[in-house]
Amino acid sequence: MIIAIDGPSASGKSTTAKLVAKKLDFLHIDTGAMYRAVTLYFLEHQVPLNNPTQIKQSLEKIDLKLSAEGKLFLNGRDVAEAIRENPVTNFVSQVSAIPAVRDRMVELQSNLARNHDVVMEGRDIGTRVFPDADYKIFIVADTEVRSRRRYLEMREKGVDCSYESILKDLIERDRFDSTREHSPLKKADDAIVIDTTRLTIEEQVAEIIDIIRSNQ
Ligand code: DC
Repeated sequence: MIIAIDGPSASGKSTTAKLVAKKLDFLHIDTGAMYRAVTLYFLEHQVPLNNPTQIKQSLEKIDLKLSAEGKLFLNGRDVAEAIRENPVTNFVSQVSAIPAVRDRMVELQSNLARNHDVVMEGRDIGTRVFPDADYKIFIVADTEVRSRRRYLEMREKGVDCSYESILKDLIERDRFDSTREHSPLKKADDAIVIDTTRLTIEEQVAEIIDIIRSNQ
């Protein structure tokens, strides 16, 4: 079974997807983390984003694997922390807009789901990666609420940041992700929308589990 969860940054997608997967005993695949890992590789190897040949060669050298717990490994290295740091965050929208990168990720994502029941989250899972997914959920929330959540999350991690700069960054990222030419962030016509502005994480998870159970 495939459950596709799409939505903008800081909508609560990741936490929700992880908990839904845990409840159903499915594999959780965070495709944003995959784009982030490619971005990390490109930054570390100084791959120029305007050079299709070098991009193609680099993509061939990138091996992405998921551990049984859903941890992502880039060429055998645990990159869970590095992919959340600022250089990657600042650069990932540009990298994920490159068609060759997207084609490779979609191929990997299809392979990862081949032998598992999965909860896969991202921006284009219901529209491009699995247009025939069993369930498609599109998570939305007010921009201010998303910024506040992200701000509190960063502060909790001890990162020095301002609410205003996070809000500005989210607006810019949403604009970039939804207007790019290839597989923009977009609700699939048959996706169920969940607005999490006034929901807790537990309520979001319960809503998705209800949708699935009521269909079985
Ligand atoms: O979910 P996230 O913030 O970790 O995603 C990082 C970036 O990757 C974001 O700018 C959009 C992009 N992305 C994408 O283009 N397609 C996906 N399926 C997942 C993420």
